[in-house]
Amino acid sequence: MTGTQYETGAAFAARMDANDPLASFRTRFLFPKTANGEDSVYLCGHSLGLQPKKAIDYIEQELRDWADLGVEGHFRARNPWMPYHRLLAEQTAALVGAKPEEVVVMNSLTVNLHLMMVSFYRPTPKRHRIVVERGAFPSDQYAVKSQIKVHGYDSGSALIELTPRPGEFCVREEDVDELIEHEGESIALILLGGVNYATGQAFDMRRITRSGRARGCVVGFDLAHAAGNLLLSLHEWGPDFAVWCCYKYLNGGPGCVGGCFVHERHARAWELPRYAGWWGHDEKLRFEMGPDFQPMAGAEGWQLSNPPILALAPLRASMEIFHEAGMERLRAKSVALTGYLEFLLEQIASPKFSIITPPESTRRGAQISLRIPDQGKAFCEELASAGVIGDWREPDILRVAPVPLYNSYQDVYEFVRRFSASLLKD
Ligand SMILES: Cc1ncc(COP(=O)(O)O)c(C=O)c1O
Repeated sequence: MTGTQYETGAAFAARMDANDPLASFRTRFLFPKTANGEDSVYLCGHSLGLQPKKAIDYIEQELRDWADLGVEGHFRARNPWMPYHRLLAEQTAALVGAKPEEVVVMNSLTVNLHLMMVSFYRPTPKRHRIVVERGAFPSDQYAVKSQIKVHGYDSGSALIELTPRPGEFCVREEDVDELIEHEGESIALILLGGVNYATGQAFDMRRITRSGRARGCVVGFDLAHAAGNLLLSLHEWGPDFAVWCCYKYLNGGPGCVGGCFVHERHARAWELPRYAGWWGHDEKLRFEMGPDFQPMAGAEGWQLSNPPILALAPLRASMEIFHEAGMERLRAKSVALTGYLEFLLEQIASPKFSIITPPESTRRGAQISLRIPDQGKAFCEELASAGVIGDWREPDILRVAPVPLYNSYQDVYEFVRRFSASLLKD
């Protein structure tokens, strides 16, 4: 799949790391330590990315400016706070394949999802259904159901869940096509995860956007597990909106501010209903303190509040590293590294577990989900005490993500060695 001929021995991992042009980026991150003071084998970037070493300097800079300048920091800080969020616009746009005007960092994912649905879920009696994948992240399910209810519909009939075929774990692309083809006229919104959080399946966003829009549906994506993981071309693909969080692959820190994309064709759609706040108001008029809301053009027009500078600071540290490494190179390494993980897992050849993530690199990102039916969360905790950090999703899924920015081939090798020892010990 990747063109790489994998080998089973430790020497292969060492050789791959020695020849990896991105290997030095690992040194820019802080790894949690094991009880012996060694770096953990951290394969949990799909949940919480590691801290960039520079994050602390970036936060301290803002704390110092606050101490020295007080309110004047809005204009006189080294990076003035008033336009601070724009420091992230170019890099964020590049990361998701958008124009700077189409993206903004603000709020958190679920809040942004609601804001987007207020504008883009406009149900009518004939067309009010929402498509999600079965087992979509719970917050998305709650958000969608609550929006359906707010509009006076019943989620029992208004929610369509894309479901894998019996005995399968991932949704087939042709089943997505068929659903859109047959039900399209009743669908107001298609809202899918770019990568499903549990299975690690990556959806073909270009194809779904094209077929959804051709049937008159609004298309939105939850990119929590796709931003900083897959190569994205949101502007070209043309979904109406997308939302993501920045604490997973984007390493912005726990609860970091989220990202939001609104396609250019809606940039000046003043007639769209939206929840308004002063930071989305035309910035030239913002401090005239007038009573009537005039949104800014583009995604910034959906902002509500002035942004949390201390939460944006570590994200800047991470986005600069992304910019330097480049998504194309990261994705190329990711495909090879995830392929290597899959290869080593296959060598274990045990009926005690199976891989539920699709085998094709085009249908997954950096994550592999393992189904381990006879184990529980304690198994994951046992791995953690052996210095291996992945995470457990009930009822029986262990998720691991070899993140190309800071994980090595030797991490993957060590993970499989310790995983196999724990799984096969009795
Ligand atoms: C796929 C997905 N959607 C939504 C969320 C919720 O994100 P937030 O708590 O930032 O709103 C998460 C959080 O992990 C997620 O993985």
